[in-house]
Amino acid sequence: MISLTIDGREVQVEPGTLILNAARQAGIEIPVFCYHPRLASVGACRMCLVRVEKMPKLVPACTTPVAEGMVVRTDTDDVMQSHEGVMDFLLSTHPLDCPICDAGGECELQDNAMRYGSNQSRFAEPKRHLKKAAELGPMVELDQERCILCLRCIRFMREEAGDPALTLHERGNHTVVDVAEGRTFDSIFAGNTIQICPVGALTSRPYRFKARPWDLDEVDSICPHCPVGCHMALSLRHGDVLRIQSRDSDEVNWGWLCDRGRFGYGFVHQGPRLTRPLVRRDGEQVPVDWREAIAVLRRGMTGTVGALGGGRVSLEAQYLMRRWLQEGVGTAHVDHRVQPLTAAIPPAQVGRIDDIDTADLVLALDVELLQEAPVLGIRLRHVARNGRKIVSVSARRDMLDMPHQELATQDVAKTLRDISRGEGEIGQAFLRASKVLILWNGRGQAISEAIADAHRLRQGDTYTMVVGGLANSYGAEAAGLVPGPSGLDARGMLEAAAQGELDGLLVVAQDKRDFPDQELLEAALSRLRFLAVAGFVPSDLQERADVVLPLTAWVEADGHFVNMEGRAQRYFAGASRPGEVWEDWRLFAELLDYDWDYDRVLEAVRRDLPELFAADRRTGGPAPRGGYVGQPGTIVAASIFHKGVMPDPLVQAIVPPPRIFLAPDRAGALHLAEGHILEIGPGKAEVGVRPDLPRGSVMWRIGLRGAGRAVAVLASESGLAGKVK
Ligand code: SF4
Ligand code: SF4
Ligand code: FES
Repeated sequence: MISLTIDGREVQVEPGTLILNAARQAGIEIPVFCYHPRLASVGACRMCLVRVEKMPKLVPACTTPVAEGMVVRTDTDDVMQSHEGVMDFLLSTHPLDCPICDAGGECELQDNAMRYGSNQSRFAEPKRHLKKAAELGPMVELDQERCILCLRCIRFMREEAGDPALTLHERGNHTVVDVAEGRTFDSIFAGNTIQICPVGALTSRPYRFKARPWDLDEVDSICPHCPVGCHMALSLRHGDVLRIQSRDSDEVNWGWLCDRGRFGYGFVHQGPRLTRPLVRRDGEQVPVDWREAIAVLRRGMTGTVGALGGGRVSLEAQYLMRRWLQEGVGTAHVDHRVQPLTAAIPPAQVGRIDDIDTADLVLALDVELLQEAPVLGIRLRHVARNGRKIVSVSARRDMLDMPHQELATQDVAKTLRDISRGEGEIGQAFLRASKVLILWNGRGQAISEAIADAHRLRQGDTYTMVVGGLANSYGAEAAGLVPGPSGLDARGMLEAAAQGELDGLLVVAQDKRDFPDQELLEAALSRLRFLAVAGFVPSDLQERADVVLPLTAWVEADGHFVNMEGRAQRYFAGASRPGEVWEDWRLFAELLDYDWDYDRVLEAVRRDLPELFAADRRTGGPAPRGGYVGQPGTIVAASIFHKGVMPDPLVQAIVPPPRIFLAPDRAGALHLAEGHILEIGPGKAEVGVRPDLPRGSVMWRIGLRGAGRAVAVLASESGLAGKVK
C-alpha cells in the first residue's frame, strides 16, 4: 500500500491509484469533466488540477498516480483559481440552454458551475453558433454548442465499443464532435454515449423533452433481453417508463447497456398489450375474469398435455410453473428450449463474466456476441485490446468483432476435442493456460459433451458460460423446466401434437417466430385440442389459443432473472399495470391453490434453489435431453433484436433488415444470388451468399417474420418460381 496525505488527511491506497481516486476514497471531491471511471484517462479538460508538494505546476489528478509520501492539496488558492478559470473558459462558449436542455438538473457542467465557478464572466464576445438538435442516428441527437470536448463519447466508441463512429472535426477553436464522414450513428452501443456525456450535447431522441430528473422515480431493474443480465435503472413518471439507464456493476455490465436493453421498453406502454384474460367461446375469444380463465386452463390441461417456454418470465414463476406441472397436472412434458438451445447451464464449472479479465485463453465456440450478448462483447473487447488470447471456433468468420484468432471448422465439437488433447498451437495454449474460459452458444449435444471432456482433460481452472438463450433460460433450466425421464422435449411435443397424440399445450411468453421449425409448429397447432397462451402482447400464436392469460411485463412486477453466470438478480416493480394483468408467478401460485404473496414465493424459491442466490461458483451438469427444434440443413442464428413477444417501435430502427444466408452451392442450385429478395410467407427477406457456411446449408436469424417458411422452402430445394425478385 502507498501512504500519502491529501488536504492534511492520511490516505492509504493500492499502488497505481490515481490521485483523484485516492481523494475520493478519503471523501474529498475533486471536480472532473473528461474523467470517467470506465474509460482510460486522457487529461483533456484540466478541471481536476491539484497542487502536489515539490511539483512546479498544478497536476491533473485524473492522470497522476499516487507516490509514497506524496502531499496533495485540493483546496489552495491556485487550485481554486484553476477551477474558476476552466469554468469561465467552458461557459464562455456554452449556450446556456439550461431551461430547455434535457440534461438540465443532471448536468455535470451545471453542478460544477454552481460549486466551482464564479458568478461573473470575463467574456463579453458573442457565443458560437454550431449544429443544434442534429439527428446523429435513430437514438441520439447532437447539440455541438453544448459540447465541452471532454471526448468521453469518442473514447467510449473507439476503445470500448470498437466502432469509431464519432470523431473530432476541424481544429483549434473550431473543433467539434460529429459522426465520422459517411456514417450514421447506428451502433448498437450508441445509447451509452448519451449517458456518459457530462452535458446535454448528446441526448436521447426517444426521451427528448419528456421529463426533468426531479420529476422522475428511479427503480432498480435487470435487462430482460439477453442472458448477460445488465443492471439498469428505470426512470418513471406516474407509473410510465420514460427511459432506461444503466447501473454500474463491477461483476456484470460495467455501467454499459446495449441499445436493445436501453430502448427495449416500447412494448410496455406503447404497443397493444394483453390486458384481460380471454376464453374461446363459439369460435370467438371473449374477455372473462381470471377465475373463469383459470378454470378453463385447468380443464384444458388434462389428458396428455405439455408446456413450452418460460425463459422470459421470472424465476419465481418458473419455479411455481414446474411445481404445478409436476404436482397439479402430473406431466413430464415440459421444455423451456423453444428457441434453439441444447443447454442453458454448462456441463461443467460455470464461468463468471469477470473471468474474462483473468483468463489467459478465451475459447468462443460458435458465439456471436453482438447478436446474443452485446455487453459481454464490450467486456471481452476490453481484454482483447490488451493482447489476451481469444479464439473463435466456428465455421463462420464474422462471430467476434474484436482482435482475435479464428479457427475455422465445420465441426466445432471435434475441433474442441483436438484442442483439449493439446493438438496444434491453440491446443498447446489450452493445456498451458493457467485459466481458460469457454463461451458457448448452448447449441449442440456433441459440443456439450466435448466441453465436459475438455474440462476433464485440463488441469487448472476451466470455466464455461452459455452465452445463448433468453434472459432467464438459466433460471428455467435450474427450476426444472426441462423434460423429465419420461417426458417429451419441445420438438417431441410438437411432433406428438402433429400426430394427434398431444391433447393440450401451454405456451408461456413465446410467439410463433420463436419456433425454428415453422412447418412443424403449424402441423402441431392444427391438431391440438387445447392451446393456452400466457404472455404480454397480442401475437399470432395467441390468436389460436383457447385461453389467453395476460402477464405483467418485467417493469411491472418484482422478480429475479438468472443470468449466464447462474446469478439470480432481482428486479423491482415500478410501472403501473395495464388492465387486469397478473404477475407471472401469481398465475402458477393460483393454479397450485396457494394463497401466497411475493415474499413467501421468494422464500420458497430461495429454499429450493439456494445455489442461485449464493456467492460461490456454481457447478453445471449434463445437458438436458433433446432441445433445439431446428430443421435439418438449417443454421438458426439467434438475435436479441428478435422482436417477438417484446416488440419495440424504438428498437425497430436499429434492427438489421431481414436476411437469409445460403452456402454458395445451395444458392447456385436454387439460382439465387446476393441481393435477391424472397417473398415467402408474410414477410420479405434479402438473400446473402456466404462462402463460410457449411455446404448445402441455409442460415437465418430466428424471429424474422415469415423467414421460417422461407427457410423451409430453401432447405427442401423445392421450386421458388414466382417467389424471387
Ligand atoms: Fe464530451 Fe458530450 Fe462533447 Fe462527447 S458530446 S465530447 S461526451 S461533451
Ligand atoms: Fe440487455 Fe443483454 Fe444488452 Fe445487457 S447486453 S443491455 S442484458 S440485451
Ligand atoms: Fe482530469 Fe479532465 S478530469 S483533466
